[in-house]
Amino acid sequence: MDVPRTVRRALADRTIDGRVCLEAGAGVGNATVGLLEAGAAEVYALTDDAEHARDVRDRVAGDDRGSILRADLRSIPLPDDAVDVVTAHALFNVLPPADAATVAAELTRVVAPGGCLVVDDYAPLPGSSPVRRLFAVENAAAELAAGRPALTFYPVAGLERLFAGYGWRLDRTRTILEPVPWTSDLLEAHADVVRRHTATLPAALAEPLVDRADRLVDEIGSAAVGEMYSLAMTAPEREST
Ligand SMILES: C[S@@+](CC[C@H](N)C(=O)[O-])C[C@H]1O[C@@H](n2cnc3c(N)ncnc32)[C@H](O)[C@@H]1O
Repeated sequence: MDVPRTVRRALADRTIDGRVCLEAGAGVGNATVGLLEAGAAEVYALTDDAEHARDVRDRVAGDDRGSILRADLRSIPLPDDAVDVVTAHALFNVLPPADAATVAAELTRVVAPGGCLVVDDYAPLPGSSPVRRLFAVENAAAELAAGRPALTFYPVAGLERLFAGYGWRLDRTRTILEPVPWTSDLLEAHADVVRRHTATLPAALAEPLVDRADRLVDEIGSAAVGEMYSLAMTAPEREST
C-alpha cells in the first residue's frame, strides 16, 4: 500500500491489529494506509481539507475499513471513547500554538481509557539552517496575510508535556527519520506557499518576501537536516463521577 517508512517505524511497536483507529490530520492518508496494513479493524481519516479528503477516499477505495471524516480537529464528530488508537503523523507542525491545546483535549476525549496515541513530528531545525530561514519567511507571509503561522516545529518535550497535562502516560520516544531530506520540489512548494499568502498583500510587503524565499530555495537546492521523532502515549483512565 506504499506506506512511508516513518509511519511503519512509528507503528512497529504498537498494537494495531483489530483496533479502531483515527488518523488525525489525514493529508493524503499516509498513516491511514499504515494502520490498514497493520490490521486495524476500522480507520477514520479526518481532515478539514476537501482535496485531501478526496485523495484519501481514492487511496482507500475498495477497503471498507476506511472512513473519511471532513471536519475540524477542534471539534471531532465522534463520541467519547470512540477509538482505541490515534495517530497524528506530521500534524502538529501545521497546528498553530493557539489550537494545539484544543486539539489535544479533543484527541483525549475520543480515545477510550487505556488507548494509544502516536504523535510523529519534526523537531525544531537548527537556527543556522537556511531551511529554517525559508520557513521563517513562510511564517512571516502567513502571519501578515492570515494572522497565524504556517508552521510550528514543536520540541518533543513540549508535546510530551502538553499531553501529560491531559493525563497521558509516555510509553516511549524514538527517532524515526534523521536527517530529514528536504528535496528541491518540497522547498519549491514552500516558496509557493509564500507566493499564495503574499498575493493579497501590498507589493512593498510581498515582493521582498517572495524574493527572499526564491533566493533561499536557489541557495539551498536540497538539504538533509533535522529529525522526525515519534512519541507513543497511553490514555488516562476516566475519573468516576
Ligand atoms: C501535513 S498534513 C498531514 C499528513 C498526514 N498525516 C501524513 O501522514 O502524511 C496535515 C493535515 O492536517 C489537516 N489539518 C490541519 N489542521 C486541521 C484541523 N484543525 N482540523 C482538521 N484537519 C486539519 C490538513 O488539512 C492536512 O490534511
